[in-house]
Amino acid sequence: MSNFTFKAQKINSNEQKIIECLPNKIQPIPELTERDKKNALVQICNHIIDNNIDGDLVDLGCSGCFNSIIWAREIRDSNIKKKVYGFDNFKGYTEYDLKECERKFHPDIAKGLRSSKSRWKLDASSVYKSIKKLRLTNEIEIVEGDIQETTKNFKPQSGSISLLYIDCNVYGASIAAINNLKKYFSDGALIFSDSGFPHPETFLDGEKEAILEYSVSENVPMFRTFFGNFSSIFAEVKNDTIP
Ligand SMILES: C[S@@+](CC[C@H](N)C(=O)[O-])C[C@H]1O[C@@H](n2cnc3c(N)ncnc32)[C@H](O)[C@@H]1O
Repeated sequence: MSNFTFKAQKINSNEQKIIECLPNKIQPIPELTERDKKNALVQICNHIIDNNIDGDLVDLGCSGCFNSIIWAREIRDSNIKKKVYGFDNFKGYTEYDLKECERKFHPDIAKGLRSSKSRWKLDASSVYKSIKKLRLTNEIEIVEGDIQETTKNFKPQSGSISLLYIDCNVYGASIAAINNLKKYFSDGALIFSDSGFPHPETFLDGEKEAILEYSVSENVPMFRTFFGNFSSIFAEVKNDTIP
């Protein structure tokens, strides 16, 4: 039986059912604040720490390492040994992922991603510098490059992963990371999608579709979270349910 320290509602691993279960308990809000998001990220991390879930944390699509920094501080304050790995190419969506998105979903979804592509171009050295300035170089390690490639031979320091937090938006990089990293998922590990906006969706795409596929193929339960204004979906790894 799952014992989440935050609100979570089990949802059926069936796309239609997920849509029906969308959070009607939450009042739509115009915007998610940074405080809401930080609170959600801290709660997710505390769940991992409080339940002694083995393994390191992965921030997939880390960009400026907003998430990684929050988790690294929680880990340091708790005096436990876990590393946070931030994956990004610091260039935005790859052409390969965008084309795949066009093929798999509606072309408008790829169009939307293309229009925001330049937003994610970042000088990687500035991210390394800020981690150094915050004295978090022992806690955070950046894995730079295309997630489709960098996750292939990646091995976490502890030998396992407790949290795969997916915020790269695109399906291709998300499913590649899940497939390449799932051998490291520990019992109780969470595979989370970054969402944050409680407006009901009518269609699952990108990282959420990847998590849904993982949940169905590996027979692991899927949940929807409610952290005040932050809502999301995630799968919980139960090693005894993996065929
Ligand atoms: C929504 S942004 C991440 C925002 C960040 N997590 C934050 O909280 O500020 C998506 C990120 O995924 C990265 N990304 C998308 N596809 C990628 C791929 N195939 N390989 C590496 N990085 C990728 C982009 O460069 C971008 O930084």
